[in-house]
Amino acid sequence: MYILVTKEVSKQFGGIKAVEGVSFKISNNSIASIIGPNGAGKTTLFNCLTGITKPSTGQIYFRERDISGLPPHKVAHLGIARTFQNIRLFSDMTVIENVMIAQHTRIRYGLLGAVLRDRQFKIREAAIREKAYEFLALAGLEDHADTYAGELPYGSQRRLEIARALATEPEILLLDEPTAGMNPSETRDVMSMIKTIQLLGKTIILIEHDMRLVMGISDWIVVLDHGVKIAEGTPDAVKNDTLVIEAYLGKETTH
Ligand SMILES: Nc1ncnc2c1ncn2[C@@H]1O[C@H](COP(=O)(O)OP(=O)(O)OP(=O)(O)O)[C@@H](O)[C@H]1O
Ligand SMILES: [Mg+2]
Repeated sequence: MYILVTKEVSKQFGGIKAVEGVSFKISNNSIASIIGPNGAGKTTLFNCLTGITKPSTGQIYFRERDISGLPPHKVAHLGIARTFQNIRLFSDMTVIENVMIAQHTRIRYGLLGAVLRDRQFKIREAAIREKAYEFLALAGLEDHADTYAGELPYGSQRRLEIARALATEPEILLLDEPTAGMNPSETRDVMSMIKTIQLLGKTIILIEHDMRLVMGISDWIVVLDHGVKIAEGTPDAVKNDTLVIEAYLGKETTH
């Protein structure tokens, strides 16, 4: 069963063809990676999938529903969450508040309830806090709930971002370079976090430059170069693909 299908998705910026005719199918509950040299169109593709960018042409289907061109909040509400290439946390809020605010985008209160802080509100708030601890535990941050997010070490901030995205209870989680700038032990922590998220039944799509991580974790890999899909397949198939080897040897990646 495919949870996400793209058909000939293209995105042009003026004369630049950032993404060109990209089609792929992502299986439910899989870990898929999108790889490719700098400027290959990976982030642009994520932006198309999450409604931040409207594809110039082509379709995106989430559980067979055409979501192409829907605005980001609608895509998020349907069950697709993401993290960004650069950190986007509320650094002057605590770790747990960062997660709780993400849950609040899912759970809607009546304004009046929020203002009156009535009994029911307090009960719900306690339930949300309890649930938030579960997401923090997944990120290994349960002992840092009251630390300001901005004071966390870099690796922990990135895991908090993943926890925050998960707190919106998505079916698909898109991670744009979750291990960029990490040391090997921080990278291992993220890798095991991603595997745990898969065990929770989620589908993960990841943009990643760390080939050891990609090859070790992915069920499926899509390779982009100059906006075009040049290969896709299992890690073993992609590793030995001539076009992929050329794309990587021909260029320096800076990440
Ligand atoms: N908003 C934009 N306006 C104009 N051009 C853009 C815009 N966003 C991306 N591009 C261009 O589209 C191409 C693909 O960029 P994109 O950021 O998607 O690549 P990427 O694969 O994520 O690269 P990296 O590995 O460096 O993050 C690049 O040539 C980039 O300059
Ligand atoms: Mg990018």
